[in-house]
Amino acid sequence: MNKNELIGTPPAHVGIIMDGNGRWAKKRGLPRTAGHSRGAKVFKRIVEDLRSLGVKYTTFYAFSTENWKRPEEEVNMLMKLLDSYLDDIRSMAQKNTRIIFAGDKAAFSPKMAAKMKEIEEISENNDGLYVCIALNYGGRAEIVHAAKLLAKEFGDNIDAAGEDDFDRLLYTSCMPSADLIIRTGGEQRLSNFLIWQSAYAELYFTDKLWPDFSKDDLITAFNWYSQRDRRFGGV
Ligand code: IPE
Ligand code: IPE
Ligand code: MG
Repeated sequence: MNKNELIGTPPAHVGIIMDGNGRWAKKRGLPRTAGHSRGAKVFKRIVEDLRSLGVKYTTFYAFSTENWKRPEEEVNMLMKLLDSYLDDIRSMAQKNTRIIFAGDKAAFSPKMAAKMKEIEEISENNDGLYVCIALNYGGRAEIVHAAKLLAKEFGDNIDAAGEDDFDRLLYTSCMPSADLIIRTGGEQRLSNFLIWQSAYAELYFTDKLWPDFSKDDLITAFNWYSQRDRRFGGV
């Protein structure tokens, strides 16, 4: 039972920075990797909670362009974990879920990259919940990538390019900009997540560590969100 009830309509696009796995494990005297395993389970559960709450678009920050700096052992374990979750992610497609991987796939093993591409293709015509998983993702890298595509597309006519053209070339082009960004783990920063798409997002920070995050916490965040006065620069 959730003690919380949803007030108002949920945000259309929710971005989640799933932070705090390492500290969750450390608190229990476990290796950091145990926190990542638990975090992956919570990810699967929260996807279903978001679906049941009526959210249409979601983006999960799973691995950043900067996370390669971590010890080799941790990175290797994260890659293995990801690989083993790709089948679970593929099965989400059966529930009319559209799956998108944001980030450069070239950094992963050819086998993994091919699986990711296949999952995107089989779910491409689904129009229920959108689940975008940011992997080897950095907002700045995404902007540079889009800028290069824009330059190629427009050539000498670059002055004609506008915000909509740029938006269309981002990894998240099939979704609207983020409405709410939730970060667990207590830090109050974006850490290179959805830099372009968060321009007018509401930012919600919680001390809860990602492996402890629940549907109840999600509802608390949504109820906080529904009380915001979003002016978008107007009055
Ligand atoms: C987030 O948890 C998961 C990834 C970045 C892959 P962390 O691993 O950053 O956990 P903390 O912040 O060290 O607790
Ligand atoms: C952000 O968390 C990346 C993910 C959650 C995947 P980090 O743990 O990498 O961020 P910093 O280093 O605290 O800014
Ligand atoms: Mg962290």
